[in-house]
Amino acid sequence: MSTAVILLAAGQGSRMNSDLPKVLHRLAGAPLIAHALASARAVEPERIVVVTGTGADQVDPALRALDPDLRIVHQTEQRGTGHAVAQAVPELAGFEGDVIILYGDTPFIQPETLRAMLKARRDGAAVVVLGFDSPAPGGYGRLITDGAGRLLAIVEAQDATPAQRAITLCNCGVIATEAALLSDLLAEVGTSNAKNEYYLTDIVAIANARGLRAKAIACDPSETMGVNSRVDLAAAEAAFQARARRAALDNGATLTDPGSVWFALDTYIGRDVLIGPNVVFGPGVTVESGAEIIGFCHFEDCHISRGARVGPFARLRPGAELAEDVHIGNFVEVKNAIIDEGAKINHLAYVGDAHVGAKTNIGAGAIVCNYDGVFKHRTEIGARAFIGSNVALVAPLAIGDEALIAAGSVVTEDVPAGALAVGRASQTNKPGLATKLMARLRARKTEKVPG
Ligand code: UD1
Ligand code: MG
Repeated sequence: MSTAVILLAAGQGSRMNSDLPKVLHRLAGAPLIAHALASARAVEPERIVVVTGTGADQVDPALRALDPDLRIVHQTEQRGTGHAVAQAVPELAGFEGDVIILYGDTPFIQPETLRAMLKARRDGAAVVVLGFDSPAPGGYGRLITDGAGRLLAIVEAQDATPAQRAITLCNCGVIATEAALLSDLLAEVGTSNAKNEYYLTDIVAIANARGLRAKAIACDPSETMGVNSRVDLAAAEAAFQARARRAALDNGATLTDPGSVWFALDTYIGRDVLIGPNVVFGPGVTVESGAEIIGFCHFEDCHISRGARVGPFARLRPGAELAEDVHIGNFVEVKNAIIDEGAKINHLAYVGDAHVGAKTNIGAGAIVCNYDGVFKHRTEIGARAFIGSNVALVAPLAIGDEALIAAGSVVTEDVPAGALAVGRASQTNKPGLATKLMARLRARKTEKVPG
């Protein structure tokens, strides 16, 4: 049976105290909503409908950038979770199967949990609700069960009796049901409650009244953590990082100081990768097995191949691609550049918008001048070339295989393969002149009349 996902993201997020819509705040290098989307994708849904509202002018383009196939609908007035889901229902036209409702501000629901909910659905429950047990259930909706595995109703905290408020089994918000049934049940939801809102949660009692079976599945409270404030966001970041560090270790990476390594939602680390202290993985980084990150590095949208050695203090920016056995050393920045097998850029260099051939060596202080103030230009460097220290390569430029660039050169013209390029003022030595000059200067100092 196929699955669809409805993702709710129309809410205000006023407690973030921000001009940025809540679901666009960053968690592990990705917008908050990307986390729920990743969980959604893991169950391979036939379609995903996102309900946006507050800040839709910013949220919609961000969603399209994450996935152009998303169906986006608007909820112009926030009249409750039931109303929000109802806006998505027309987008389910022609779809037959199960629907899972997720929240954009609840990032940690695990795919296995969603699969367990779908299984319970397919085993006969008309509505399946994800719950968690909380010693301090506060404002969460309470799950009312019959003690024999049946979920009878969800009561919002504000509408609950004191006895119901004492229940510790809470609604985390995630619900699985069947598409046609969802539309049917929603049609019966009204607004006679404390908030005068359409509560999605009412579909449980409505299903029961029709003689249908509803069921609660409990998950670990760490999965149901929601983000409503910056304090929550910081706590979510800490929770994400703790899990990611643990996963990296379990998958066979060595982290000498796990607590100082920061991962992004999509970081990929292979087996037997060594990661030293203070390394930040921004979005889009993949590291192949056996690479070594020495420490104090910052990476973003880049790829590090097997056997490469990077750092300490290296920065790989978007589009940096290191082939096998490349060495990138201290205070080296690489941007939008392919560095072929075995090439070495070991000290104090900038390489941008370039291609560096295999086994080429780029010396200390060498810089690719890729930007003329308006346009970016490319630099092609061949294999086994040697770029001396403190060379400025003024792009656009092509340097052939096995070319040698003398230290201190400013290179503005292409260099053929095998050529030596010297582009600097030539040196002349004046015998004895230094000694003479210094003597004259010292003499002037003693003669100097004060005032
Ligand atoms: C909801 C549940 C409650 C549950 C809690 C878990 C209902 C009636 N209550 O309460 O049982 O314990 O979540 O966090 O469902 N949203 C919209 N449009 C709206 C209203 C909400 O898109 O009109 C979205 C919000 O952006 C958010 C989610 O739905 O992502 C939940 O909304 P929120 O207002 O936080 O619901 P709660 O009152 O917390
Ligand atoms: Mg809430």
